[in-house]
Amino acid sequence: MEIQLAEQFSHFFGHPHTKTCFAPGRVNLIGEHIDYNGGLVMPCAITHGTYLLLAPNDDRVYRFRSLNFEASLEIDIKKEGYSKMGANWYNYPLGVIDRLIKAGHIPGGVDMMFWGNIPIGSGLSSSASIEVVTAFALNELMGAGISRLDLVKHTKDVENIFIGLNSGIMDQFAVAFGEKNKAIQLNCDTLDYTLVDCDLGDYLLAIINTNKLRALAESKYNERVMECNEALKALQSALTVQYLCDIDADAFARHQHLISNDIVRKRAKHVVEENARVQQAAKALAGGDLTAFGRLMYASHASLRYLYEVSGKELDAIVDYCSTNKQVAGARMTGAGFGGCAIALVRKDSFDAFSEGLIQYYQEKIGYVPSVYSSSIGDGVKALD
Ligand code: GLA
Repeated sequence: MEIQLAEQFSHFFGHPHTKTCFAPGRVNLIGEHIDYNGGLVMPCAITHGTYLLLAPNDDRVYRFRSLNFEASLEIDIKKEGYSKMGANWYNYPLGVIDRLIKAGHIPGGVDMMFWGNIPIGSGLSSSASIEVVTAFALNELMGAGISRLDLVKHTKDVENIFIGLNSGIMDQFAVAFGEKNKAIQLNCDTLDYTLVDCDLGDYLLAIINTNKLRALAESKYNERVMECNEALKALQSALTVQYLCDIDADAFARHQHLISNDIVRKRAKHVVEENARVQQAAKALAGGDLTAFGRLMYASHASLRYLYEVSGKELDAIVDYCSTNKQVAGARMTGAGFGGCAIALVRKDSFDAFSEGLIQYYQEKIGYVPSVYSSSIGDGVKALD
């Protein structure tokens, strides 16, 4: 495949590439809508991802091509940086260049060609994957010596400042710091993390794509961020805390009356309880107790469904089916929600039967079929040559 990509690059740009880099997508095992509330999350990188082939040019332009999208861009180097251009895919790499420029690193002319195999808009962080692979590759090409953590921070800024989504740091962090067969337990406040062995024993990690087109996901996401800020402000009238996740269940029970809006109170309850679940899940995983881990996954989903209200009938149908299937230890939506993907821990020897049963159930309930994959945990961003 890499050979075909190399041929495509030469075909587009009339000269060979000099570097290939890869960044994965991610799933989040547990800890949803927690990162922007300063708590604990547990994502891992997957083996699907984005390849970037690139080479310097002498024309003082940035050129972006993709094998996944028709649109392409050629733009002069501008020392003042760039702004978002419509809803095009190349906003992600352009946004990375904008952030690098604003951080004092101006890449020379570069030709770039992207190809990815993460289903777009599926909640598996295809955007973080493009951002991180671009930042990583340009850093290598320039020899700028930007640390991996700073690359993560710059790419988060791309989402927040350039794209306009008030997301947390989890996706970019997982894409950059993932390791094969490890889950990342990340404290989103301090950015301290540990890599946890993800030995799933007789189980495998299934990814189930609802194949639902996500609508309004960005505005609903930003709405949740605002609701959390509102809850935090109300609680700060009595508690000295910086984030919602600084509040434990007891303190929340004693002070939740300070949040006058019922909906906002439900959002905060999810955050406080989900944060506690991540700590329990880490213990369960370390002790190889996948039954306990699976129960926490179901509890997480129920909370996202009823308290945080970011699920939907498609994701719920998948998790409902899983909860009646004895071969499944646990299941939940992963990522922002509003469609996208669910994950499930499924007995390896029952995966085919599980997949068939789920597809049939989902089609009857929803009217079209989901995509079901058995997935592996892979490495974070890296150079391939
Ligand atoms: C999206 C965001 C992340 C995180 C998740 C929800 O993936 O990009 O920062 O908030 O949603 O956990």
